[in-house]
Amino acid sequence: MMDPVSERLKQHYGNAFATHGATARGVDWGRDDDVRLRYAKMLAVLDGFEGGSVPSLLDVGCGYGGLLDYASASGVSLRYTGIDLCEPMVLEGRRRHPEARFEVGDILDFGAACGYDAVVCNGILTQKLDTSIAEMNRFAGRLIPRLFALCRHAAAFNVMTTRVNFMAPNLYYRSPIEMLAYCIDQVTPRVRIDHAYPLFEYTVYLHRTGDGPGPA
Ligand SMILES: C[S@@+](CC[C@H](N)C(=O)[O-])C[C@H]1O[C@@H](n2cnc3c(N)ncnc32)[C@H](O)[C@@H]1O
Repeated sequence: MMDPVSERLKQHYGNAFATHGATARGVDWGRDDDVRLRYAKMLAVLDGFEGGSVPSLLDVGCGYGGLLDYASASGVSLRYTGIDLCEPMVLEGRRRHPEARFEVGDILDFGAACGYDAVVCNGILTQKLDTSIAEMNRFAGRLIPRLFALCRHAAAFNVMTTRVNFMAPNLYYRSPIEMLAYCIDQVTPRVRIDHAYPLFEYTVYLHRTGDGPGPA
């Protein structure tokens, strides 16, 4: 059975895509400039990667593959796999990038045959909708360790910051201080947080032993 939060998000993003198509609004993700900045933050997951070949990257909640559009336009080569709950988005991703792999599914049920050099998750921890904060915290507690389990070099995800002067009731906010403590205690001590860009969110980078900051 699909996680109830995934089920709710599937409905929400399915409606957005049916209304607005393959655009930032179609994945309910703000303005085009904001989306490009987020893609740049996601690709920073590859900082320090020394695999010697084109990195494999799993894009969790990939939408229609906007990250791959951005990477290709920026000259970044990837062995790309995207996964998303919404089939119409995945079909659009396959149409735009026949060379890449796009899967329909819930990352919480995704049985990956192998790991990926990098895993990114751009925008899943954003819409709370009518779900309770406790329920979203439970969902995040399943999602974050899953992202890390699938990566060989590093995983990155973003979430809205509580350091704001207004909070919309339908969005999900997490304190960066509490998130840092959670990641160090429950996931890995090798964590970076980028809270220094002009959106109401931050990006967390979870590194494998040996290639990130933190104790040995
Ligand atoms: C804000 S949109 C961002 C889409 C894409 N990352 C982008 O930046 O263009 C979030 C996406 O996550 C997908 N999603 C939400 N929960 C998911 C889950 N549990 N597994 C896979 N995809 C999920 C939604 O269907 C939606 O397309």
